[in-house]
Amino acid sequence: MVHRIAVIPGDNIGPEVVAEGLKVLRRLQALGFGPFAYDEYPWGAGYYLKTGAPMPADGLDTIRDCDAILFGAHGDPQRVPDRVSSQGLMHKLRKGFQQYVNLRPVRLLPGVVSPLRGKDEIDFVVVRENTEGEYSGMGGRLHAGTPYELATQTTVITRIGAERVMRFAFDLARQRGGKKRAAAATKSNALSHVFGLWDEVLAEVANDYPDVECHKFHIDAFTVHLINRPEWFDVIVASNLFGDILSDEGAALAGSLGMAPSANLDPTRRHPSLFEPIHGSAPDIAGQGIANPVATILAVRMLLDWLGEAEAARRVQAAVEAVLAEGQVRTRDLGGRSTTAQLGDAICARLEAV
Ligand code: NAI
Ligand code: MG
Repeated sequence: MVHRIAVIPGDNIGPEVVAEGLKVLRRLQALGFGPFAYDEYPWGAGYYLKTGAPMPADGLDTIRDCDAILFGAHGDPQRVPDRVSSQGLMHKLRKGFQQYVNLRPVRLLPGVVSPLRGKDEIDFVVVRENTEGEYSGMGGRLHAGTPYELATQTTVITRIGAERVMRFAFDLARQRGGKKRAAAATKSNALSHVFGLWDEVLAEVANDYPDVECHKFHIDAFTVHLINRPEWFDVIVASNLFGDILSDEGAALAGSLGMAPSANLDPTRRHPSLFEPIHGSAPDIAGQGIANPVATILAVRMLLDWLGEAEAARRVQAAVEAVLAEGQVRTRDLGGRSTTAQLGDAICARLEAV
């Protein structure tokens, strides 16, 4: 059966790294996996400059029936305010398709050096709530342009929203079968209403998983624990903002933002899920051909897993690890001089024999 993939390359380095992800999929198809079919959509900040919106009003319906979405990165902050492409594209996709889990694996790969001295065992997953919380989008401005101007943006935690993402995290801790440890981020000491409910739901969910350790840290202390003892963590579950922060921190601990993939999942599979690198559109290095494509290629790996292409996914992971461990082909963020395409080519060349 053909896997139909909606491809949204985005802006700046988005298309550069997505090209390498597609290269990997095409190579896999040549090796007998798939087949894959692609529909490309030029949405993002550039599309906004041409049409006045980062995607068409019926954009969600256009791609609703695809099997998965491969996304590069959006944003052109010099010319388009970030909130335009973020609210008008990213958040529409995540909320509109009920992609309530943002899954961000953090693993220090062989041959890559963590900025933390002496740490070589980093392997955890951040499960970030992706549809509500601090990024609910609810709020507004009043008395704009006057001295009385005010702004509000409401944090929304629902029982259903917290429970479903926590259950996903505890199930994942079971599946991973390692430390079986869930660590939740909270801030119920200061944000007592919303994170009070979050903590209550956590206690209830934890009760149903006696075989999974449950821990809870306030977000400020959490960021410190993650630096001091990254090897202790297994599955992290967090609200939208806290999960955003912890996964960027995790990506940095694992060597580079250019290495960290993510998946925006609708675990019910009623809507398509979206796979992307964690990083943004990196306008500072766009057009130079030096962006690290590994985050996008590992996002392709997550996409393959989601589509049930387990052997193809395994090969992608193994090929990436082999090339990084060898250390011959590296982009600048990893201390090398190779181009985006050279690293993509090196990974493709390994797919056959791993
Ligand atoms: P960024 O992630 O684009 O860049 C941060 C730093 O990391 C930059 O120095 C960049 O050169 C470097 N970097 C990022 N990806 C890299 C890669 N693959 N290889 C090597 N180096 C890499 O974050 P920033 O600068 O805050 O945002 C730039 C634009 O991206 C903004 O418009 C922002 O809104 C957007 N953005 C989009 C996201 C998305 O599409 N999901 C996520 C985050 C930001
Ligand atoms: Mg982020």
